[in-house]
This record gives sequence, structure tokens and C-alpha cells, in this order.
Amino acid sequence: MDLIKPLSKSDLIIITIKNQLFIYFKMCDIMAEERAQWNSRWGFILAMVGSAVGLGNIWRFPNVLYANGGGSFMIPYIVAIFLLGVSFILVEYALGYRFKASISKILYSIKPKFEPIAWLILAIIFLILTYYIVVVGWDLIYLVLSFTKGWGANPDVFFSSNVLQASDSIAGIFTFVPMVLISVLVLWATIWVITQSDLNSGIEKVSKIVIPLLFIIVVVIVAFSLTLPGASIGYTQIYTPDWSALLNFNVWLAAFGQIVFSLSLGMAIALTYASYLPEGFALADNALLVAFTNSGFEVFNAFGVFSILGFMTFTTGIPFNDLVTEGTGLAFVVFPQVFNQMGAVSYIIGPLFFFSILFAGLTSAIALVEPIASSLTEKFNIKRKRAATLVCLVGLIISLIFTTQAGSMILGVFDLFLNNYALLFTIVLECIIFGWIYKFDNLIETLNQNSHFKVGRIWKFVIRFALPIVIFILWIQGIVNTLFSGDSATYSIMFILLISLIIVPVILAKMPAKNEKYYEVLDEL
Ligand code: PFF
Repeated sequence: MDLIKPLSKSDLIIITIKNQLFIYFKMCDIMAEERAQWNSRWGFILAMVGSAVGLGNIWRFPNVLYANGGGSFMIPYIVAIFLLGVSFILVEYALGYRFKASISKILYSIKPKFEPIAWLILAIIFLILTYYIVVVGWDLIYLVLSFTKGWGANPDVFFSSNVLQASDSIAGIFTFVPMVLISVLVLWATIWVITQSDLNSGIEKVSKIVIPLLFIIVVVIVAFSLTLPGASIGYTQIYTPDWSALLNFNVWLAAFGQIVFSLSLGMAIALTYASYLPEGFALADNALLVAFTNSGFEVFNAFGVFSILGFMTFTTGIPFNDLVTEGTGLAFVVFPQVFNQMGAVSYIIGPLFFFSILFAGLTSAIALVEPIASSLTEKFNIKRKRAATLVCLVGLIISLIFTTQAGSMILGVFDLFLNNYALLFTIVLECIIFGWIYKFDNLIETLNQNSHFKVGRIWKFVIRFALPIVIFILWIQGIVNTLFSGDSATYSIMFILLISLIIVPVILAKMPAKNEKYYEVLDEL
């Protein structure tokens, strides 16, 4: 009879192949559904430090410190670390860890009508990424130039005429600057390679290599800078306090602004990274570690920057306060000028300095991709690789605007609008949603599970009252200071940004999820 006919060899082979394929596809399904997880505690911490330590620490902080009273700035700064930095990181950690989901799914779960706010946050960080990468691109150009001091005898003229080829008119948008274009292409390609890999072989591996390297480079630069003649003219500024600055309201606001920027607060990075943590993790202890490493890094690095500027004052007689400028001027004009004064050793210190900015910027940039990729993957059921490719491709297209002759002008407007207005606005919204609408005590319970450092009523008060009030004041101050000082091109760009930030999040939230589990409620409220 047919039924008991023994199987031939070829039948057996076919059955085996079918079984193997079945097992393979089942495994793929399981793996696709499983949430990625950090390989180790250090992988997570280094990735968190990588997201925080960026351009803001290396070039923004020294100027903020100097302009706001030097040593005495440390008081508002430390208050800001605790009141704002640690407190808000804890909110993001607790949410990510408790829900094990992306920001869009978490906000949907808290109330479906909050989902557009998640996409708003993601749209803001996406736009920040598109110009942040261009600044890192300028750094890449300077890294290459630093081996030969290719910026010549007049770094200030070189930066505006040769690198940026800046034009004040918006018409410059039609002319690309080839050098910037190539550098931005290289960086987007690098970010794509890192972010399209899975969590462990991408962000985790890169952070484990690059962050220790960055710290070694900065230690070498600072140690060398302290030995320069005239260094003390600079570094003594850090602990020479101007106590009257403490009575200045703007100094306090500057401290809070620096912490928002430097710790990448409110961008859902900490939330996304914490969602990849295994159970049993000491969240609060690690939040303190990350916040202090980030601030320790920028204060330590400031000693190097100030010493180098002290050396410049000593050798050229240029007054110290003329040298401490805002970020771009400091890194791409003043530092090349200093390297021109320094002799042979600058061929080592110069490249190291630009390497440090590159590493810091790159690890922050990959961190900005992650929350976006995570929400896209979860809502639209697409593979990580595809989500990362989409983000990098669209990001590159927008970045192209900044590689034109009008690029640096438009970049300034993006930076002002996104950091001063948009981001601060969403942080206030996050405080209100998580502090008032979501059952906040759930977060307290999550944080206190495994940590030595316990949180309670004070933290609740900070998130519900202190933080939204302080950030709201910061926000109003930003608007009053800058909104009425722009020209028509500035207002037009801001208007386009505003409209895009209303339309795109609403569309993304309205689009139906491809993943049914996306609409599952995650937590009792
Ligand atoms: N915190 C990082 C920095 O200080 O550069 C990265 C960062 C990204 C800062 C995006 C600000 C920002 F808007």
C-alpha cells in the first residue's frame, strides 16, 4: 500500500530541508519580536555617556562657564544637574524600563491622543540631527586639515570664505559647497553603517570602543595644555568666582539651558536606551553616574580649553575675553589660531582635538537616530535595518540644505528654533504628562526596585512643579531674547519649521499601526 511505502532518500532530504526552513523562519519571527537587550551594564552606561557627551560639552560649555561668572557658575550648574538633569533622566529611565517600548507606544498607551506628542519629539530630534551632523562634518574637514595646518595664516577668513563659503542671502541655497557636502555624506554613511546593525554590534560596540578612546584623548590634551606657558592665565578663570553673577537670573537660566543641551534631555534617548535593559538593573544609581560623568567630562575638558586660551593670551597678548567665543568660533577659528602659534607639537594636539569632537559628535548623533528607529520599527513593523536606512536617507536629504552656501545661516535658525523653543516646549509637556496624567507613583516604584539611591516625594514635587515652571521661564526668556531680533528670512524658516512640526507628527500618529500589539495598553493607569 501507498501509505506504508518507505520514504525514498530524496523524500527524506526534502522533509529535512522543509523542517530546517520551518525552524529557521520560526526563529526569525521570534527574534524579530524579541526586544533587543544590552550585552552588559557597561555597554548601556557607555552608550548613555556617548549620547550625552557631544559638541555641547567640548565647545559650548567653556563659553557658557566663562560668560556666566566662571567659578561661581558651578553653584547654579550643580543645582541644575540635580533639579533638572538627574530628575528628568530618572523619568525617562523609569518609563523606558517599565514599559519596555518606544516613546510613541508609551505615549499612545498613556492616552491615544498623546501619540502626536511623541512624534513631535521625534521630529524635533530628527531635525536637530540633520544639522548636528553638519557641524560634525565641519569638524571632519578640520581634522583632515589639522595634519598640515591647511587653514593657513588666517583661520577666521579661511573658515568663512573657504569652508563655509557663507552667503547671508537665502539665494546661496542653490550652490553646494563640495567640501562640506563630501564630509556630510561620509558622516551619514558612517551613521548608517552603525545604526542599521543590531543594538549590540552597532551602538553598544561603537560606544565601548569610542568613548574610552575619547576620554584618553581628552586626558592627553588637558595634561599637555596645563604645561603650556601662560596656562594658568586661563585655568584660574574656572575657579575665580564672580559672586555677583549668582544674583543674575540669566546665569541660572544659562545653567539649566546647558544641562538640557549637554545631557540631551527630553529627547527620548535615555527612555529608549533604558527600554533595552534587562530586569534587576539599578536605574537611579546609574542615572547619577551618567549625569556626573557627563558634567565631570565638560568641567575637566574646560581646564584644557582655558589653558590653551591662556597660552594664546600669553604668547600674542590678545586679551583672554576676546578668545572665549561661542562654539563654532572657538573650535574652527580660535583653536586653529592657537595651533599656528604652537610649533611642531600642534601636529599631534591639533588632530587629537578634532578627533575628540568627531568622536563626541558621532556617538551623540547615533543616539539621536535610536528613538526614531525604535518608534518606526514598533509602529510600522519594519526591520531595524530598514528603519535606520529610512532615517539616514531622509536625514541626508535635509542635511543637504546645510551643505550649501546659505547652509550656515539656515543652520543657525534651526538651532535657535529647535533647541530654544521646540525642545523646551516638549520637555514641559513631558513633565505635565508624566507628572500629572500618568500615575507617577508607578515610576517611583520602578526606580526604587533595585537602586541604593531611593527617590520619593521630593522627586515628585520637582517633576510636577519645579521643573515645568523653571523650563517654562527658560522658554519665555528664549522667546523674548531672540524672537524679535530676526529678519524676514529667519521668520520664514521658523514658520516652515513650525508648520512641519505640526503636520508631520499628526500624520505619523494618524497612520494606522502595522503591528497590532502597538495598540495594547501597557500599564494600568
Ligand atoms: N548632548 C550632546 C551634546 O552635548 O552635544 C548631544 C546633543 C544632541 C545636544 C542634540 C543637543 C542637541 F540638541
